Amino acid sequence: MRILTGIQSSGKLHIGNFFGAMKPMIELQEEHELYTFIANYHSLTSSKDAAALRQYTLDAAIDYLSLGLDPNKTVFWIQSEMPQVLELYWILSKFTPMGLLERAHSYKDKVAKGVASSHALFSYPVLMAADILILDTQKVPVGKDQIQHIEMTRDIAIKFNNEFGEIFTLPEYIVEEELATIPGIDGEKMSKSYGNTIELFMEEKALQQRCSKIVTDSTPLGEALDPQGCNVFALASLFLDHDTKSELRERYTSGKEGYGHFKKYLKELIWEAFAEARQKRAYYLDHPDEVRDILSDGAKKAQRLASIKMAQVKDAVGLL
Ligand code: ADP
Ligand code: TRP
Repeated sequence: MRILTGIQSSGKLHIGNFFGAMKPMIELQEEHELYTFIANYHSLTSSKDAAALRQYTLDAAIDYLSLGLDPNKTVFWIQSEMPQVLELYWILSKFTPMGLLERAHSYKDKVAKGVASSHALFSYPVLMAADILILDTQKVPVGKDQIQHIEMTRDIAIKFNNEFGEIFTLPEYIVEEELATIPGIDGEKMSKSYGNTIELFMEEKALQQRCSKIVTDSTPLGEALDPQGCNVFALASLFLDHDTKSELRERYTSGKEGYGHFKKYLKELIWEAFAEARQKRAYYLDHPDEVRDILSDGAKKAQRLASIKMAQVKDAVGLL
């Protein structure tokens, strides 16, 4: 089974990215043919600063490798190093009704949150469709917010195939229901764009401070706390097995501890969970050439496949 996902590089990676996209992806590499890339063309839609975009792109690559992505099992590259997707993006645009794009939630959400509206932001789903279709992807592991983009990809592929025959494979999404939307420190969806993230590789003190800022209700110390709907509980649960989660629930309802205790506990959970990855990350930060070699190898492999698909597509539409 061929599985692909992309991750944007518009900011430092956070716990929402890890549980919503990276962890499921990394687990899949043991049994499937995996393709993953850093979606820096997509990040350009919300980037203001070239140096930051460059830095975030490399950081994201290093973070993926540190968290267990194995370049011997997974084809791993930077989106802009496989420029065939831009050719396909243009061709697919012809098969994308305006109405389809006008219905996209993510465009409306991003503009509502202050991202400058642009043609690139509007046509973002078409580039995503190109990423997916160019490699005959069968499954795409994503967070819940991206489901509509996969549905749009299918709509575009069906329209194209209806006209030219079975050129594109129709992809399906994989969403881990339980982990569907990880809350940020304000209880909204955790997102780089909303400034409410807990980054994966913060300094210990900064992590503690970040955890202490998580919004909770104002139940006074000494009273039972309600784990249901509590952001600290929701985040801690991501790191706990069934039994430990039950124990935490009991601590909440016992009334003996306040939110401050649970925020410290959450910080410890996060710090421990990423201890090994932190060490690997220090290694890759010291060996940037090794990272670049891995990425350029990956780009070559992805390009080989993309070129075969592009020849078929161009031939079908009459571009040769
Ligand atoms: P952000 O919203 O921070 O910009 P991205 O859009 O780059 O994050 O998301 C990268 C991947 O991580 C996507 O598959 C997305 O669905 C997933 N993801 C991001 N935030 C969350 C979240 N809060 N909960 C679950 N998955 C998430
Ligand atoms: N839009 C995705 C996100 O914000 C990133 C992305 C770009 C992607 N191209 C993709 C994800 C292709 C999966 C497949 O998370």
